Amino acid sequence: MIYHEAIVVGGGLAGLRAAIELNRQNVRVAVISKVHPIRSHSVAAQGGINAPLGNHPRGVYDTWEKHAFDTVKGSDYLADQDAVIRMTKEAAERIVEMEHWGCPFSRTAEGKIAQRPFGGAGFPRACYAADKTGHALLHTLYQQTVKFKQASERNEMALYTEWLVTDLVVEDGVCAGVIALDIASGKLEAFEAGAVVFATGGAGRIYGNSTNALINTGMGMAVPYWAGVPLKDMEFIQFHPTTLLGKNILITEGCRGEGGFLLNNKGERFLAKYSDSIKAMEIAPRDIISRNIIREITAGNGFDNNYVHLDLRHLGEEKILQRLPGIREICMEFAGIDPVRAPIPIQPGQHYAMGGIDCNTECETVIEGFYAAGEAACVSVHGANRLGGNSLLDTIVFGAIAGSNAAGYIRDLKGRKCETILKNTLKLTEQRIGALCKSEGDEVPVDIKVTLNKVMDNKVGIFREASRLKEALDEIKTLQERYKKIKLNYTGKRVNLSLIWALELKGSLDVAEAVVAGALDREESRGSHFRTDFPKRDDAVWLKHTLAFFTAEGARLDYKPVNIGPFEPKERKY
Ligand code: FUM
Repeated sequence: MIYHEAIVVGGGLAGLRAAIELNRQNVRVAVISKVHPIRSHSVAAQGGINAPLGNHPRGVYDTWEKHAFDTVKGSDYLADQDAVIRMTKEAAERIVEMEHWGCPFSRTAEGKIAQRPFGGAGFPRACYAADKTGHALLHTLYQQTVKFKQASERNEMALYTEWLVTDLVVEDGVCAGVIALDIASGKLEAFEAGAVVFATGGAGRIYGNSTNALINTGMGMAVPYWAGVPLKDMEFIQFHPTTLLGKNILITEGCRGEGGFLLNNKGERFLAKYSDSIKAMEIAPRDIISRNIIREITAGNGFDNNYVHLDLRHLGEEKILQRLPGIREICMEFAGIDPVRAPIPIQPGQHYAMGGIDCNTECETVIEGFYAAGEAACVSVHGANRLGGNSLLDTIVFGAIAGSNAAGYIRDLKGRKCETILKNTLKLTEQRIGALCKSEGDEVPVDIKVTLNKVMDNKVGIFREASRLKEALDEIKTLQERYKKIKLNYTGKRVNLSLIWALELKGSLDVAEAVVAGALDREESRGSHFRTDFPKRDDAVWLKHTLAFFTAEGARLDYKPVNIGPFEPKERKY
């Protein structure tokens, strides 16, 4: 049995920020991550992180209140306004903290942190480090964890890299710790901890066409879901308007923020044709632009019935090299085109899960001592549609809040021993994995994964309708049955990725089921969730969060009210 005062699961931005906060408050903390922290998906974030700093000439009158309003409006009024206010009020402080920790933000001519326009924002508010903002932030936080690890006056900061957490252990509604598998040795261990923070990222890879890293399987949401923590608002999946044709690599919103145009096959800036994007054009929110791209393609105005163009040529080589160097590299490496000279072929792709582990503004869940932050969590600050630049902000604001609250909880803990439940769970998990390794079924896990991806891409996409969603739900249930008969192609202990993917596949299936159940249930259109059979927002019935509870028969749905603050729900116009 391994013991740490606190355990953070996930080594991305939210996880590292939580760990730093715990360690700052002299809590002995361990980070458990299935990849090395600097390989976490946070590293792939490109265009920016929002804070109302007012450093842009057109942003001098920006305030946290305006940031809060834009976020709530962008969310189609489903965000909890107390949470949004908390995030936007703390944004500037968190950014300055990152700057002081050495984050190499791009600069204005006066040396201030540079900011660019992003979708749905009233002012240029996205602070950026060229188009590698996630990389800059993640390396900055990782350096801090190394510093804390080495500081002799500090208590322990331990790092377990390439360990997969398989179970959240709960006794009488109180968190006892986790069970984790050391991928290198194949050994399962029980970790006892006073508090556990989950910051395991998103579930993008339940889809095939996704900007997400392959590691974003949804397992980090599934583990607490299996332990009794509800998942909130899972039907709200964000499709980023501009992903590279075929590969779905993110082509940052920063391209449009810097002035890039979206063009159809007639060379028209087609967003002007649609009433919901006529004014904001390329910097309308993502849900609106993604829908209008699909509408344009469906009307026969795309290329090969499949994509449109993102044209950056008019920005000029100097600006592209300075502000969007990563995008140029991606286009050259993966599409063989240079955006300085040719338009980029783009199509919408899955990008983000607005839903996740149900928690409140303090990152607390229904399980005492169990916290969640970042994309894995649903606080909810993004509601039905997240604004670009708000996810990175969410990670560092709520990572710090989760860490701080977990530290406070541990301080007040009276010695509690949970060895028995941990040992029992360890034994059960060993048996489960043993049975999986011995299974003589005839189902190949990757076939199930590929079928799941196709179902989600084709039936649970940007435009949804009941009949397709019902088909998707039935097909997922069939896949869950097929999963019971899988056979691993390798059953050895060391670095058994066949086993790791198989364990995670169970998580993907159950999380996907929660997404589809919510999407079928929510008979309205709001934010990213567009039902062609219910095309209007319905505040009278649906201004509420969906909660999905895991049961052996499938997701059981319930609801909870939205925290409405100063911003009365209105029709969203851009
Ligand atoms: O387009 C982007 O750079 C993505 C930003 C985000 O998801 O916040």
